[in-house]
Amino acid sequence: MQEIIRQLEEKRNRAYLGGGQKRIDAQHSKGKLTARERVELLLDPDSFEEWDLFKEHRCTDFGMAEEKNLIPGDGVVTGYGTINGRLVFVFSQDFTVHGGSLSAAHAEKICKIMDKAVQVGAPVIGLNDSGGARIQEGVDSLAGYAEVFQRNVEASGVVPQISMIMGPCAGGAVYSPAMTDFIFMVKDSSYMFVTGPDVVKTVTHETVTAEELGGAITHSTKSGVADLAFENDVEALLQLRRFMDFLPGSNREKPPVRPTADQPDRIEMSLDTLIPDNANKPYDMKELILKVVDEGEFFEVQPGYAGNIIVGFARMEGATVGVVANQPMVLAGCLDIASSIKAARFVRFCDAFNIPILTFVDVPGFLPGTAQEYGGIIKHGAKLLYAYAECTVPKITVITRKAYGGAYDVMSSKHLKGDVNFAWPTAEIAVMGPKGAVEIIFRTDIGDSEKIAARTEEYRQKFANPFVAGHRGFIDDVIMPHSTRKRICRSLAMLKDKKLERPVRKHGNIPL
Ligand code: COA
Repeated sequence: MQEIIRQLEEKRNRAYLGGGQKRIDAQHSKGKLTARERVELLLDPDSFEEWDLFKEHRCTDFGMAEEKNLIPGDGVVTGYGTINGRLVFVFSQDFTVHGGSLSAAHAEKICKIMDKAVQVGAPVIGLNDSGGARIQEGVDSLAGYAEVFQRNVEASGVVPQISMIMGPCAGGAVYSPAMTDFIFMVKDSSYMFVTGPDVVKTVTHETVTAEELGGAITHSTKSGVADLAFENDVEALLQLRRFMDFLPGSNREKPPVRPTADQPDRIEMSLDTLIPDNANKPYDMKELILKVVDEGEFFEVQPGYAGNIIVGFARMEGATVGVVANQPMVLAGCLDIASSIKAARFVRFCDAFNIPILTFVDVPGFLPGTAQEYGGIIKHGAKLLYAYAECTVPKITVITRKAYGGAYDVMSSKHLKGDVNFAWPTAEIAVMGPKGAVEIIFRTDIGDSEKIAARTEEYRQKFANPFVAGHRGFIDDVIMPHSTRKRICRSLAMLKDKKLERPVRKHGNIPL
């Protein structure tokens, strides 16, 4: 017994040291925490229950069976714990052990926690820091990846899956994070790419650094692969804790509720003057969001990508809501390929996890041009339309100013089963703006500025207001901006137990 306990201690200490002090120091010198330090910081103190600390790889080729290469835990720390008291499962790859590379045993550890997370209904958080497939293991390692991929797909829409990229993530390794719900990255120390700079140079003759090709800035601003980029490990993990507070444990739960002192009937008079008199002058839609939601707390996702649409999480009367809003400050808030895809994915996440959606609309239409048409705006714009139409969670829409053309339909309109659709008095709901409309329907009058001015005014009087839509019941009420929060809170309370069933089918065929 004494001997076993001694061996246990020895093995435990060996596992805790990962690839050894030298490699831990190297990890620290790159500004990175170790796998264990990250888990400690992410979870509530003393809440981590570790599994498979003693698991070892089974490879015997290339000297892998030697004592020095058999490190208990095999390069990934796995288990469960709590974040602000709520259960999460976590795996954290240990770069100090064979570069955090994925062996069959390493993959089995990840699969084990994923399976349990799905069974008990808790999120899976992956802290990725890995040189990819364990080269010495060959196809066993690739099989391991595929086992993880399959589970990513099966868990999709069942439990939230979050990836935090905190080191290398290359080749096939990128496809597990790619199938999770959110990807966060750490600046300067993480990168993701399918093929690295050397292969790129050989194949396309482009010279590019790893950071330029797949760093946090690249993916959070250019490719849209990453949802957020953080300054360092500590900021990343603390923000991840904050983020997790918004999410339910699984699709079986309602979103979490956090007590708030912010009154549901709070009046916000400054909103009455938010919209400029000049219809072409932009204003900051974020100001509206911050003034309406609980305590001005908004967790924006993808702030650096497709800024013409804003998406993120907030709370109303303590309960999580997803916010989607056109941003007039960027491209006049129009819908384009990037913003449609960004918002569609967000809407689908909210729908999968029972999170009501608030949509603030000020949209002049779809972005015109060959770049958009050749890029497939028809197909990509349809994603957002499809996402809103199939979405069955409570949907509340507020049109603040423009809601023109097909984009009006797309943005959670009544016709897509919007539950409560409000308009501010400044709303203009029409096929297009007065100028464009008059130039088409009164083409023969072009050149006669007086006639055109009269026609434009006529059109403005008729359509540049919320009343025509109101007469038809497409708008449930025209509300004063200052009462927006109150009206939304009441609507959410009314919709609390909303049930909307869809006909049974294998799955729909969203345009991809
Ligand atoms: N399989 C096995 N061991 C690996 C590995 C892999 N895929 N990737 C890294 N390692 C090991 C290295 O051999 C090294 O071991 P050591 O500490 O015993 O010397 C250790 O991990 C650290 O790697 P190193 O190359 O020194 O770190 P780095 O920070 O300079 O570079 C990478 C990191 C990821 C860029 C580099 O290791 C790499 O290119 N790895 C291979 C990536 C790959 O092609 N993977 C397979 C395709 S998915």
